[in-house]
Amino acid sequence: MTADDPFAHLHDEDYANAFSRVWAGADTLLDPAGRSGASLDGLWTMTLDPFDEGLRQRWFELDDAPPERWTVPRDCDPAGGVRVPVPSCWNLLTPEWKHYEGAVWYARDFDHAGPRQDRRFILHFGAANYAARVFLNGRFIGAHRGGSTPFSLDATNTLRGGANRLMVHVENRRRDDRIPMSHFDWFNYGGLHRGVTLFALPDRHIRRFRIAWRDGAIRAAADCGGASPRLRIPALGIDAVLDGGRGEFPAAPELWSPDRPALYGIELSLGDDVCRERIGFRDIRVDGTRILLNGVPIRLKGACVHEDDVAKGRCSDETDIARRIAHIKELGGNFLRLSHYPHDPRVARMADEAGILLWAEIPVYWAIDFDNPETYADAENQLRELIARDANRASVVLWGVGNENADTDARLSFMSRLAATAKRDDPTRLVSAACLVNRREFRIEDRLAAALDVIGLNEYFGWYEPDIRDLGRLLANSTPGKPVIVSETGADAVAGLRANDGRLFSEDKQAAFYIDQIAALRGCDYIQGLAAWLLYDFRSERRQTRFQRGWNRKGLIAEDKATKKLAFGALRDAWRDW
Ligand code: GCU
Repeated sequence: MTADDPFAHLHDEDYANAFSRVWAGADTLLDPAGRSGASLDGLWTMTLDPFDEGLRQRWFELDDAPPERWTVPRDCDPAGGVRVPVPSCWNLLTPEWKHYEGAVWYARDFDHAGPRQDRRFILHFGAANYAARVFLNGRFIGAHRGGSTPFSLDATNTLRGGANRLMVHVENRRRDDRIPMSHFDWFNYGGLHRGVTLFALPDRHIRRFRIAWRDGAIRAAADCGGASPRLRIPALGIDAVLDGGRGEFPAAPELWSPDRPALYGIELSLGDDVCRERIGFRDIRVDGTRILLNGVPIRLKGACVHEDDVAKGRCSDETDIARRIAHIKELGGNFLRLSHYPHDPRVARMADEAGILLWAEIPVYWAIDFDNPETYADAENQLRELIARDANRASVVLWGVGNENADTDARLSFMSRLAATAKRDDPTRLVSAACLVNRREFRIEDRLAAALDVIGLNEYFGWYEPDIRDLGRLLANSTPGKPVIVSETGADAVAGLRANDGRLFSEDKQAAFYIDQIAALRGCDYIQGLAAWLLYDFRSERRQTRFQRGWNRKGLIAEDKATKKLAFGALRDAWRDW
């Protein structure tokens, strides 16, 4: 809307280009690492914008004059929007918004002392589903795509003393060129579903760092513009300067494991910029068809889990996360697959403390547009952001680069590049993907396996494929030559529906399913783990029978996170001595 032609925006279908050229990504991501910033969480206002009017008409440039002082009509007044909590998912705030897929505008006014000579002001977003465009005081400061990873934007040049207005355009449109694409089996929650923080850091500061132990030495690498920060690990007697941000120190720490999740307090400082972390040191690798943790074979037993809460949707808090961990331990497990997208960063921190092993992945899920370079760039960036965020978490042992993707040449090159990226960014962890079965030869065989350390196998013998004996046949028929984890297996059951005739959707059927699964898997020497699909029932609008009504009912526990189904005990008992 320009002074000389107030209606130009009606004819400009390239309106979004100016805000879609550069996406914030892994290379600019700040790791808070124990630093405190000013939280902007709390009540914001929100305005629906299904037609992207705000980008067309540049609502972010609107002044905050009260209506009585408006001289020309306007279609939005950020201060007049609906008050909503951040973080949250808009879908569960009012019934009308439950199925809303589109754009919204968040607005948050805050006072600030203003910029200072020697300080950078970094806005850090925990996550926004799916694409976010950020405006401060009427100026576009950056954009991000990918609904589950953090991003940071430098606000130093747009922050001002006194009143500031932050506006964030967030849209969760399902599109085939995205990660995930438009078709997936979970609920498409939208919004700023993790916290927003404003950090004030010295000009020269530590963007992020990586500390890992391998082969008798601790290696540290800090991204701080070539400066030399000081590393202190008092319990190991380490106190040294990282020359140019890098250093290597012979060390024999107590190694982290599920039985003994030993963590070390570390401090990394550069002038008055001080990062503090609790880090576990461990070694994870494969040897033939075995997975070795600190040189000892380990079997990963656990479940997959979605971030889905009846009342909060994708938002988790420490109580939710502690409960997830407690349920896995009660199940006799040591492992969680965080499906199918990066989960709240507190999960890995709490898993570090509790001794739970994690598979963390990005949503390269089903029919991705594997030929599209933009889609690849988006996927690679999400992977790199996940690694940058969680690389110091001992609990994370596997990066997952995809789930159930058809074996095409385009997919092979796309996902092999992702696997190579994970290895390049983080040579200390294993890479996997949930692969499909070679149907023609009926064996565990996928060309992608060559690029993976561990083969993930999603199989539903006894459910989608009714005959459990086929699992035995498949296992006997296969020589994967690498460790295989059953990355998903499960059956739907409605909590409380009992039937001893084994009918589908009954608890009895689900329990019998797991007993049969473990019996079939037991004794197969290359199967090194199982992640039940899944811990809790979750929302999925793909599921519409009278038993489901918009829920995937494969949880071992119902969506109330309390009602255990028969299968919970059945699995616990069946794999106790596996
Ligand atoms: C697939 C898929 C899951 C899905 C599950 C199911 O394997 O990976 O995301 O929810 O099957 O059918 O329940």
